[in-house]
Amino acid sequence: MVTASAPGKVYLFGEHAVVYGEPAVPCAVERRAEVTVEERTEGLRVHAEDLTLDGFTVEFGNGDHPDVDAPETMVEAGMGYVSEAVAQARDAAGVEEVGFEVSIESAIPLGAGLGSSAAVTVAAIEAATRELGVELDPEEIADRAYRVEHEVQDGQASRADTFCSAMGGAVRVEGDDCRTIDGVDDLPFLIGYDGGAGDTGALVAGVRDLRDEYGFAADTVTAIGDLVREGEDALVDGDLERLGQLMDVNHGLLSALGVSARSLDAMVWAAREAGAHGAKLTGAGGGGCIVALDPTDAPLTALDYTPDCEESFRAALASEGVRVE
Ligand code: MEV
Repeated sequence: MVTASAPGKVYLFGEHAVVYGEPAVPCAVERRAEVTVEERTEGLRVHAEDLTLDGFTVEFGNGDHPDVDAPETMVEAGMGYVSEAVAQARDAAGVEEVGFEVSIESAIPLGAGLGSSAAVTVAAIEAATRELGVELDPEEIADRAYRVEHEVQDGQASRADTFCSAMGGAVRVEGDDCRTIDGVDDLPFLIGYDGGAGDTGALVAGVRDLRDEYGFAADTVTAIGDLVREGEDALVDGDLERLGQLMDVNHGLLSALGVSARSLDAMVWAAREAGAHGAKLTGAGGGGCIVALDPTDAPLTALDYTPDCEESFRAALASEGVRVE
């Protein structure tokens, strides 16, 4: 039996635009998904626990249909990632027939912009390959996890979430070019969570339609790329004020692309009015989380008093990516 964990992430800059080859800077945060894998003779049995679910168990036999007592969309989403992740592990180990018992414990809310699916996928690949006696380097785990997301999300995924979760720290992703950014010790991230989730596939498709239809929407995507390049310099300089200013602009550009929500805007404004250097939605949007930057706890208090905010917390930069527990 092997347990592995991988961190969630926030986007400092660049979500959505990264899908079209612009650079993005996601940062891993200390909220982890932990996946335990044990080999068994056949089939796939998955038990999941996380913050937003009551927990469910899914049994895959030799047939296609899981026997499960949980809402179908939730099961489809979770199971898609896990079954593709173990397929990657079988492929890496060169075995076809082996079955697995998989347990997931995640402190990362589902579909809320904190990279829950990437973290589960990355940790599952690490745990399952180790269980089969194979050790992959984090770059290969990132690549295999990207293939899983690409498959499950119908080709609408960038490498950003999976690379960030596998490597940890602050990273830069531009198309297939993925790098870690050295010299970023910590950033004072604050998270506000509205208790909801966005539909990543639908949100990505919405931006694609807008971009296809209007030149100015395509220019907005390009502007996000330009903003990210400015932001990288501010990150290396540790210039929180400038980082915050660029986060604010990034949120505005994402809003223009139609991926914000009333609850996300309310939390962004609560954090800003309490003095945060900057605040923006993180991830696909539509609901879920915002990330603010501030060393004081004043924005956290403000978020606590914001009716749209269900939970707020500070999240340290996770310098370690995927690891065996
Ligand atoms: C989702 O966490 C981030 C998006 O940019 C999609 C992706 O990069 O795969 C919206």
